[in-house]
Amino acid sequence: MTPSKPSPMRRWLKRIVVTLAVLLVLIQAIPEGRDHSNPPVTGEPAWDSPRTRALFMTTCGDCHSHETRWPWYSHVAPASWLVQQDVEEARRKFNVSSWNLSQRHGTEAAHEYESGEMPLWFYLPLHPSANLSDDERDELLAGMRATFGD
Ligand code: HEC
Repeated sequence: MTPSKPSPMRRWLKRIVVTLAVLLVLIQAIPEGRDHSNPPVTGEPAWDSPRTRALFMTTCGDCHSHETRWPWYSHVAPASWLVQQDVEEARRKFNVSSWNLSQRHGTEAAHEYESGEMPLWFYLPLHPSANLSDDERDELLAGMRATFGD
């Protein structure tokens, strides 16, 4: 008995998967999103306590400071492009590592967190340690209000 030919549907699926895999390899060569720098810290806010700073760094600091912990997928396109873009935009808007420059958005920080706008929706599933307990959350909110205003 001769083996039956794979169905046209299976052949197409295979082609699509192979094409995607080849594309994924090829796009790694695009010199985009590789900067991943942590520039020098030029100024920090007057934190109301070291605890607020620690909680902030856990939950917000990867994007809003120069102490970004770049995760492994931030080195793999296309995730690298998105991560680089988010961090650059976040640092431009609100950056606790260049507090010597004018910061217009600090007073919104507690509100952004309380309303669930921040951190960005995909961040918590990828960073379980940033999922604070209710008590820690209250601490961070009070600490941000004391540090940045309300
Ligand atoms: C995954 C990256 C990321 C994390 C983590 C993150 N942010 Fe942001 N944040 C951004 C980006 C990108 C912007 C600019 C675009 C926007 O406003 O949505 C931003 C904007 C902001 C702004 C300015 C709001 C405005 O009016 O544009 C504030 C304030 C802020 N974030 C606070 C926080 C706080 C507080 C946390 C922690 C609870 C946090 N962010 C965590 C990426 C992040």
